[in-house]
Amino acid sequence: MSNEAQIDFWNGPAGDVWVEAQEYMDRMLAPLSELATARAASQANERAIDVGCGCGATTLALASSGSSVWGVDISEPMLAQAKTRAKQRGLNNVAFSVTDAASQNYTPDHDLVFSRFGVMFFDDPKAAFSNLRQSLKPDGRLVFICWQKPAENPWMSIAGRAAQPFLPEGGAQDPKAPGPFAFADRDWVREILDTSGYRDISIEPVTPVLTVGKDVEEAMYIQGRIGPMARVLSELEGDVREQAMSAVRAALAEHETDAGVQLRAGAWLVTACNSD
Ligand SMILES: C[S@@+](CC[C@H](N)C(=O)[O-])C[C@H]1O[C@@H](n2cnc3c(N)ncnc32)[C@H](O)[C@@H]1O
Repeated sequence: MSNEAQIDFWNGPAGDVWVEAQEYMDRMLAPLSELATARAASQANERAIDVGCGCGATTLALASSGSSVWGVDISEPMLAQAKTRAKQRGLNNVAFSVTDAASQNYTPDHDLVFSRFGVMFFDDPKAAFSNLRQSLKPDGRLVFICWQKPAENPWMSIAGRAAQPFLPEGGAQDPKAPGPFAFADRDWVREILDTSGYRDISIEPVTPVLTVGKDVEEAMYIQGRIGPMARVLSELEGDVREQAMSAVRAALAEHETDAGVQLRAGAWLVTACNSD
């Protein structure tokens, strides 16, 4: 079945980690969320889909305009968290469902397809984006944000670089394989959207500074839950593990300021229109 590996992944420990770290992630990603939701500019009379909505932060943000927002995701634990948050706010203009966005049978009555980092995980991105286009009205629009390559994302890659000498060699990976950096190549993103029938494609670099922790210890916490530091904790033991953690701690400490540990992120803010 298509996207099976990702369905397993996001319903396993990764989904639980994102639920546990939801408040933290939303705080850290706020500068990028604000850029993307401002660009989406959802309106009260509109219908939107939030693809890979996860724990629902951007679904709720888009719905604050009064628009009807449907959050779709394959992760049951993350959607449970999203539903709880919507209920706490008493919102009746949001809905969530366990849905593979790539294969859902859509009706063409949506104004906006939106995503914050939820569209880089499709086995067949061209088929997925063609299918998503079927959800849009003829004048509907697409707005999403995705990561540039790791080297443009020191907020994540400096921990990886610091830990690398201590970790066993990882095998070479296909840079376009489903995962957070699958859309790092701007030409590839353009090709996906172009082939899927979108027009007026814009792929703009956005490079905000993220606060990855109020201090080094909080930054270490999240780096240990996601990304390369998680490998340190799961694959190393004893002294080597301590040495790797010290190296990561020292690398993060270089970026500690009065406002927390601050590091640059690099993302693409992508917009396009339906071409029907
Ligand atoms: C990096 S997380 C981002 C979550 C959320 N948008 C956020 O910014 O907090 C990626 C999300 O995409 C979802 N996802 C991956 N493949 C999907 C698919 N085929 N259909 C719907 N959601 C998918 C995952 O379950 C996960 O919630």
